[in-house]
Amino acid sequence: MDVLTAINSRASAARLTEPGPSAEQLEIILGAGVRAPDHGRIAPWRFVVLAGQDRNILAKAMVARIKRTQPNLATEEVEREGFKVQRAPTIIVVAAKTGTPGKIPDVERILAVGAAVQNMWLAIHALGLGAMWKTGEPAYDGAVKTALGLEPTDHIVAFLYVGTIAAPGTPRETRFEGAVVRP
Ligand SMILES: Cc1cc2nc3c(=O)[nH]c(=O)nc-3n(C[C@H](O)[C@H](O)[C@H](O)COP(=O)(O)O)c2cc1C
Repeated sequence: MDVLTAINSRASAARLTEPGPSAEQLEIILGAGVRAPDHGRIAPWRFVVLAGQDRNILAKAMVARIKRTQPNLATEEVEREGFKVQRAPTIIVVAAKTGTPGKIPDVERILAVGAAVQNMWLAIHALGLGAMWKTGEPAYDGAVKTALGLEPTDHIVAFLYVGTIAAPGTPRETRFEGAVVRP
């Protein structure tokens, strides 16, 4: 698949299922991530691959967070939070190393990691697999990051859900309204 076809045909999958990416496919996906533009070549990215049972690490952390932040939430809602990891067989947590000394500012580290996520998504798409990019409050929670082996100062850029497409999404139209500013 050429790069313009990949960009123009990519869409969030509506539903994902087994199987997730193989070890070889994961290497291609992460390899595409680390080829993203990276000011200072500091490799600010960190990847936590959660496949199968390992997704429970994230589920437990998400449930603990929601119980802590919303102690009166109905049991049903708490359980729903834990089931979110089942959206895909594999979740790649993509984080930026931030809050550490260095001449590259955090915003540029986060941008490099955002570019890495897009590279990864295009690679996933070119491999014939599907993805969803999620964040939400768990991405910004120190305890969730610690449970994943990250530092509380790291910035989670994506929970990239990856799997076989059970129901495809619809690619968006190319729309420029309001985007092009004339001097
Ligand atoms: C930084 C970032 C965070 C996102 N977080 C979420 C999220 O929490 N939930 C969600 O449904 N989509 C999230 N998305 C995915 C976009 O919403 C999604 O790509 C968008 O709906 C467009 O759909 P498409 O991917 O099919 O073009 C996020 C995207 C970005 C760039």
